[in-house]
Amino acid sequence: MKIGIDKLGFFTPDLYVDMTELAHARNEDPNKYLIGIGQEKMAVIPPTQDVVTMAANAAKTILTDKDKEQIDLVIFATESGIDNSKASAVYLARLLGLNADIRAIELKQACYGATAGIQLAQEHVALFPEHKVLVIGADIARYGLRTPGEPTQGGGAVAVLIGADPKMLALDRKSAYYTRDIMDFWRPLGKTEAMVDGKYSSNIYLEFLEHVWTSYTQKTGLKIKDFDAVLFHLPYTKMGLKGLRQLIADADPVSAVRLAQEFEHARKFNRLVGNLYTGSLYLSLLSLLQNSEQLSAGARIGLFSYGSGAEAEFYAGVLQASFKEGLMGMDYEQVLQQRRKVSVAEYEELFNKQLYNTETKLLDYHADAASFVLAGVKGYQRQYLEH
Ligand code: HMG
Repeated sequence: MKIGIDKLGFFTPDLYVDMTELAHARNEDPNKYLIGIGQEKMAVIPPTQDVVTMAANAAKTILTDKDKEQIDLVIFATESGIDNSKASAVYLARLLGLNADIRAIELKQACYGATAGIQLAQEHVALFPEHKVLVIGADIARYGLRTPGEPTQGGGAVAVLIGADPKMLALDRKSAYYTRDIMDFWRPLGKTEAMVDGKYSSNIYLEFLEHVWTSYTQKTGLKIKDFDAVLFHLPYTKMGLKGLRQLIADADPVSAVRLAQEFEHARKFNRLVGNLYTGSLYLSLLSLLQNSEQLSAGARIGLFSYGSGAEAEFYAGVLQASFKEGLMGMDYEQVLQQRRKVSVAEYEELFNKQLYNTETKLLDYHADAASFVLAGVKGYQRQYLEH
């Protein structure tokens, strides 16, 4: 039985800051951001959006009533959780109108979380092929204003529906994974911005890639020439480019050119959104599937997932004939183009307006065009609604 990704949905708020303007405001050469880091625009998150609303907005684009009937497990991967106790998945299930006869949980391991969710979801579907699992990767990447990490912020949510006989990507069972206790990036309880040893984290990312790739090739016998595209966790798109260069260093020229071309399609949307932590790898998959003109049924796609702290996995899947249908007719190029550019001053103001641990504050959500919004907090309870 084939098990894998049946549908893929994405949401990011309709605001962005231009990286050239941000570079000027920070006295940096714009090419450092555009080329050196590989980011062109960065998502700006208004206070009326958080991981729950972004996840609901992403999932809404893909779920039919039949899917909702079949879903009996929701795995919400995030490192931007809004409660230490209650799972974001419980709010999400209610907002989406899912059955009450489900399991709904939150999962955490930095940017790796959604990959763990997808792997666990496959095992669930193998036991219960008539069921589907909704896996979410939703985050707001925050390092702080005027920090080296600032140009690698962003945010959004990806919704992945896992099922039997998937429309998009049938996942291989064999994969390679690796965990080691590393302090490259972390966010202690109570802190609203991540702490990071930036250069070290980039080196560890490449070291973990080397490790899981070697282990993967030993386990499967597959080589780089067997892949039509390889995707990377993209904290900033130059990071993925470094990963690709490492993998294709010894590849034959034809494979190297093919993989480099597909990588450009795969990083297109990430260049316009920034890091969405758990969702970044899956936004890259969506970008590849929407933008590539070469890929067709039978193509093998490799996925490198990395989460600081640190944990990595390399796995792969085979593209299915109906893969375009899994995007449900969404034109994400247009969605991203239609966003409103905010000035650097407005971005800074919105950055400081995110609601954390607030007892009571009501928000004017009417300007937010998204379906699901955060209307405020009352007595420490977050008020979500669809409008
Ligand atoms: P920095 O120190 O400001 O930048 O921080 P830099 O000086 O290293 O420059 C960046 C690149 O721009 C360099 O290229 C420069 O040469 C180039 P590289 O050597 O890397 O190839 N450059 C230029 N290029 C063209 N024209 C110019 C120019 N000037 C410079 N004029 C850093 C950069 C990424 C470290 C920082 O933004 C940061 O700390 N970001 C956050 C951490 C991060 O994203 N780490 C990635 C790996 S860890 C990970 O992926 C997990 C994560 O997603 C979290 C999780 O798992 O939850 C982060």
